[in-house]
Amino acid sequence: MKRFPVPRNFGVGPESRIERGQTWPAPSGAKRTKVFEIYRYDPDSGRNPRIDTFAVDLDDCGPMVLDALIWIKNTVDSTLTFRRSCREGVCGSCAMNIDGTNWLACTRFIAETGTPASIYPLANMRIVKDLVPDLTHVFAQYETIEPWLQTTTPAPGKERLQSPEERRRLDGYYECILCFCCTSGCPSHWWTGDRFLGPAVLLQAWRWLADSRDEATGERLDNLEDAFRLYRCHTILNCTRTCPKGLNPGRAIASIKKMIAERAG
Ligand code: SF4
Ligand code: SF4
Ligand code: FES
Repeated sequence: MKRFPVPRNFGVGPESRIERGQTWPAPSGAKRTKVFEIYRYDPDSGRNPRIDTFAVDLDDCGPMVLDALIWIKNTVDSTLTFRRSCREGVCGSCAMNIDGTNWLACTRFIAETGTPASIYPLANMRIVKDLVPDLTHVFAQYETIEPWLQTTTPAPGKERLQSPEERRRLDGYYECILCFCCTSGCPSHWWTGDRFLGPAVLLQAWRWLADSRDEATGERLDNLEDAFRLYRCHTILNCTRTCPKGLNPGRAIASIKKMIAERAG
């Protein structure tokens, strides 16, 4: 994926440059160390973003990039700010740009990173602080697709059944953890993200269109059939390349377009 290391820091002047920050040496006596260059930015400080350099003691730290960030926070600089929760690739909160690729810090081995490892927040998002992007806009876009089961027929006594085949149609979509690695890497969302829904939200939209129990297909397609909301996807497929769950948002978007075309006859 093309590397765009400068996040869209709203409120920072266009002359802003990322400055060279502080360098933190390895603890004395450390035998196996690894250098991390990490983006730091506090919009409230009025100062430019900077890159801080940390030498991590690998013998005192777990194997994943998230372990290194936690080690830095616990032992070197407690102000380093990032999101994390599950530490096993299911919550989506530790998504960031690692060596130029969007991925989950908890599922990327330190051993797989470059020297030095370079850590930035997801691109094209406002930055709350350091590695924490503001997801308000993308979650507002998510809300527009009404991501819940919608039915008009009376509820059955127990549950709405699916055949195994109908259930299988959700494979490759229900696993999405809304990390937004794909949306952050989508060039169309960089330029028209105010109106284009982006790959994560469109994959979720397809997840409900593909669900045999959902009865709002027509309304969902009406909502998506729009030159910007859907058709700003130009099948560049950055999204599919960068999904840490191995999903294919590009295929989901193509499926929506096909369903709309079939509906038109
Ligand atoms: S395939 Fe569409 S959604 Fe995916 S990166 Fe390209 S333009 Fe964006
Ligand atoms: S499709 Fe993949 S990259 Fe995109 S939000 Fe879902 S899990 Fe993350
Ligand atoms: S901490 Fe949950 S996905 Fe990384």
